[in-house]
Parts: sequence; structure tokens; C-alpha cells
Amino acid sequence: MSIGSEITVEQLEADPYPTYEQLRAEAPVCFVESVGLWLVTRWDDVQHVDKNPALFTGETEPSTLNRTFGKNLLGSEGAYHARIRSIIYPWFRVGAIGEYPDKVISPIASELVDGFAGRGECDLVADFAEPLSARVLKQALGLDFVEESTLRRWFAELAEGAANFEGDPERQKIADAASAEVNETVAPVVDRLSREPNDTLLSSMVHTEVDGEKLTLEEIRANLKVMIVGGLQATTDLISLSLWAILSHPEQLELVRTEPSLVNQAIEEAARWHSPVGTSTRQTTGATEIAGVALEQGSLVAAVLASANRDERNWTDPERYDVRRNEGSHLAFATGPHLCLGARLARYETRAAWRVLLERLPGLRLDDDHAVEISGWEFRSPNQVRVKWS
Ligand code: HEM
Repeated sequence: MSIGSEITVEQLEADPYPTYEQLRAEAPVCFVESVGLWLVTRWDDVQHVDKNPALFTGETEPSTLNRTFGKNLLGSEGAYHARIRSIIYPWFRVGAIGEYPDKVISPIASELVDGFAGRGECDLVADFAEPLSARVLKQALGLDFVEESTLRRWFAELAEGAANFEGDPERQKIADAASAEVNETVAPVVDRLSREPNDTLLSSMVHTEVDGEKLTLEEIRANLKVMIVGGLQATTDLISLSLWAILSHPEQLELVRTEPSLVNQAIEEAARWHSPVGTSTRQTTGATEIAGVALEQGSLVAAVLASANRDERNWTDPERYDVRRNEGSHLAFATGPHLCLGARLARYETRAAWRVLLERLPGLRLDDDHAVEISGWEFRSPNQVRVKWS
């Protein structure tokens, strides 16, 4: 039996890293039957896939993303993608959201800490990372009147459609209902924003004009759904995983406490070590090859960002979490034309989260009575991160 026919979904979900290590060594471009994808696992090859959209397109056929959200930037390439991205990008520039950490994120993080500081213990996922990323995203998008639980439900239901590769009509129905609900909720907001602009992402999507082009209402709705699905869980996961990473290395936590300028590096290293988003999924536009392995036109390829981030060809001792690592940037936010648009916001959130927690909760440490279980290969999340403080 080949490696690709032996790998199970359960194995990938529980801990994909030993499998990635074996694939990098023995079959760096490998069709994995259980997931129906060619997994590309080495650093150079993952870059090759992400940086060559003419050969490896994000506009897959069928496209679960376009079917569920409407045609959007993540599910498109070329001039169309460039046009949408150029209109959405300005809101994410430093000049536009540079004040977010102090004005928006830190106050929300502090308020959350106020709620549990007196308890001496909490779950950093449920009590902190989840509400923080939901509240920041709502505010950023301009949907602050939407309940957090509703935003989370939209995320889960839209994600059902995005992951519905088998085209199950029941799963699609759930996603389509959420999509209709988002459209209905957004309609009056867009209407108001077109008369009264403000500083939100939705308002920016309504008003930004590049080379005489604006987004249509359909494009605004479709891309808003990409932000909901891309911006909620992954940010929660980066906050939780990075805090778990540093707290499970007390000697490195000490280093960061004495040298706070290491915080950003410690967060980037956590994103490399346990990447919240595991893959970029693409489809070959013609016959091609990667690392000598022939791929037919129409092959579905997962460029495994999480594996590239542990490739021993690019990193020294890659299994080790090391806040002093200085080996260049990782691929947790992908690369090429689909490089994550929200990376700056996600980084701001995670840095502010660290700052507020380290300042407000002296003696912060993991609660060893509650094991942290991390699972998932396309999206990697801890079930909980229970902590105590002095
Ligand atoms: C830690 C948090 C995040 C991680 C790890 C992450 C990761 C990624 C990755 C890997 C991609 C590329 C996917 C591919 O190549 O197929 C991507 C794209 C994208 N992300 Fe993020 N993301 C995060 C947060 C956010 C946030 C907060 C937003 C927006 C509010 C966002 C919006 C987007 C958008 C719009 C794209 C598509 C860009 C394009 O197609 O040109 N992400 N993200």
C-alpha cells in the first residue's frame, strides 16, 4: 500500500505533524485518498503552488467558496481578483487601522479581563479569545449590533458550505440559509452607509473606488462572508495557540517578560509552530509537475502551509518552539496573491491580547489539571486553555 492510501482523516485531525514529516521525507507530493487531495508538504513546493496562480488556481471547479458566498476574492484569480483585492485592501493599511490596538482591541481585552480577573482562573479560549475576536470583528466589519452567538453561528453554517466538497444538498441548505440571513442583515446597513459613511470595513467596501471601479452589492455581500469565515475562528485560534505555546514554555515566558520587545517574535513563532490555517487549496489549470510528480489538469492540491512551517529544509530544529528563532518569515498567512488580507488585524489582536493578559494577570500559568487538546489539520484549534494566576 502507498503512504497516500494509508493516511486517515482521523490521523490528520488528531495530530498531522508526524504524517507531514513522513510525507516530506518520502512522498512530498502525495495523493491522499481519504481527503481526495494531493498534499504538497515541502517549503519550496508550497511556495511554488501559492505563487503560481496561473498553474494552481484558487478558482476551483466546482468552487465550494463561490457556491456558498457568491463569487469572491479567495475563489477568484487574475484581473477580477486584483480588482476586488485593490478595493478591499485600503481599509487594512496601517494608516487606516493603525489606531485599532489602542482604541478598539485593548479596551475590549481589558473589559474581558475585568470580568474574570477576580476568579483566579479561566479558560483563555471561551472566556477570552473567542469573545475578543468576535467583538473586534463585529466592530471592524460594522456589524456591532449582531449578537456574538449569531456571528459564530453564521461562521459555522457558512463554513459547512465552504467545506461541502461532496456537494451534500443538506449541508448546502444550512449554508444557504445563513447566507440569506447575512444578506438580509446587511442590506439596510449598506443602505445607510451609502448615505452616511463611517470607518468600518463595510463602509469602506461601499465607498472605495479604484480606477473608477467600485464593488457591487453582490460583491460586498460575498466578500463580507469571506471575512466572517476567514477572520473569526483563525484569529481565536492564533490568540489561544500562541498563549498556550508561551505558557507551556515557562522559561521562554520569563524571557518575554523581561524583554517585552520579544512579544511579536514569540507570536510569529507560535504561528509557525502551530499554524491555525493548515492549507491553501488550489486546482491545476493544466498538466504540470511538482518535485518530479506529474499532476493532471484539474487535480485538487492542498499546499500544506503547516508542513512548510516545519520543513527541516528551511528551519533548524523545526519541532521546537523558540522565541529567539530568527530564520525569516513563516507561511501561516500563506503567500502570493492570496496572502491573508486580515493578517495585520489578526496580529494586532494577538499582540494586544498578550499585552493585556501579561500586564493584568501576574503569575499567569497553565492549570495542569486540565489538559489542552489541540486538533484539526485544515483549521487547528485547542479545545481549551485553562489557566490560573496569582
Ligand atoms: C490568525 C488569523 C488568520 C489566519 C491564520 C489567516 C490565514 C489566511 C490564509 C492562510 C489565507 C490564504 C488562503 C489561501 O491561500 O487559500 C487567508 C486569506 C484571507 N484572509 Fe486570513 N487569516 C487570519 C485572519 C484574517 C482576518 C482577521 C481577516 C479579515 C477580517 C482575514 C481575511 C482574509 C481574506 C479576505 C483572505 C483572502 C485574500 C485573497 O484571496 O486575496 N483573515 N487568510
